[in-house]
Amino acid sequence: MEKAQSIGVVGAGTMGAGIAQACLVAGLPVVVIDIDEERVARGRAAIAAGLARSVSKAAMAAADRDAALERLRGACDYAALRSCDFIIEAATENEALKVAILQRIDGVARAGCIIATNTSSISVGRLAEVVTRPSAFVGTHFFNPVAVMNLVEVVHGPKTGDATVAAAVSLAKRLGKTPVVVKDAPGFVVNRLLCPMLNEAVLAYSQGIASAHDIDEAMRLGCNHPIGPLALCDLIGLDVVLAVMKVFQHDFEDPKYRPAPLLEEMVAAGHLGRKSGRGFFTYDAP
Ligand SMILES: NC(=O)c1ccc[n+]([C@@H]2O[C@H](COP(=O)([O-])OP(=O)(O)OC[C@H]3O[C@@H](n4cnc5c(N)ncnc54)[C@H](O)[C@@H]3O)[C@@H](O)[C@H]2O)c1
Repeated sequence: MEKAQSIGVVGAGTMGAGIAQACLVAGLPVVVIDIDEERVARGRAAIAAGLARSVSKAAMAAADRDAALERLRGACDYAALRSCDFIIEAATENEALKVAILQRIDGVARAGCIIATNTSSISVGRLAEVVTRPSAFVGTHFFNPVAVMNLVEVVHGPKTGDATVAAAVSLAKRLGKTPVVVKDAPGFVVNRLLCPMLNEAVLAYSQGIASAHDIDEAMRLGCNHPIGPLALCDLIGLDVVLAVMKVFQHDFEDPKYRPAPLLEEMVAAGHLGRKSGRGFFTYDAP
């Protein structure tokens, strides 16, 4: 495929808005899809706020921000994706939902279009079976917050074509990111290593090894991590960490990936971290 000329993003939440913003900043026209007008508007507002931050930091001229916003189109009708040659699914981490969304994307995507998923943990190979051309399906795993984090894991599914991987690598580079090509395995590289560490921190905390503050302090000072594991759980969302551990437990069939019982309890109690105002630490506003 020639270089992607226009991008579709399905899901205008945290990641979809961030990915769309990065594409707009790189000069690409973007269509963002969500389930209703309100969510599309919320996504647009998040993108506008992100661009405004760049302007306030003098990282972007106001005129360039205005031009970027003009390249953005929001819609609820998937037919708007017909103009796109690279479509990234960035909707909620739920396999059945992603299957339904990918079927809809596949139904409108034009010939030659690459379809990508931003999934954190679901098998790219399984999702590829949903689309007509699995060779043109790839994982593009961006990191949160997209504007700040430089890595994109480009996930080479079992049927992903080399040209598709090359197009995803090329797009990541155009967005100023550093792509790393990884095989399709649960959690890819980063979450495979990170989430068991976070889960272990929750176990250590529940066993009274140290206070939440001291567990985080130990890992910040002992491993030079910029943020402690429990504060990171709060930032990512305890529900997200739990969902990833459940995928590992199921896909690896190995008890070592069993989610910490406290993680399950906290999620059931609605203590999801920053987004709910309370996790291992408390926050003034979600
Ligand atoms: N949050 C993170 O730190 C992070 C990091 C990397 C990857 N991811 C992955 O990115 C994806 C999105 O995560 P998020 O954190 O942005 O979630 P989110 O909840 O912030 O956003 C998901 C969006 O998808 C929309 N959506 C749901 N069903 C839809 C449909 N049928 N059509 C269109 N849109 C639909 C929702 O309305 C919502 O706006 C997930 O696969 C997640 O695993 C998340």
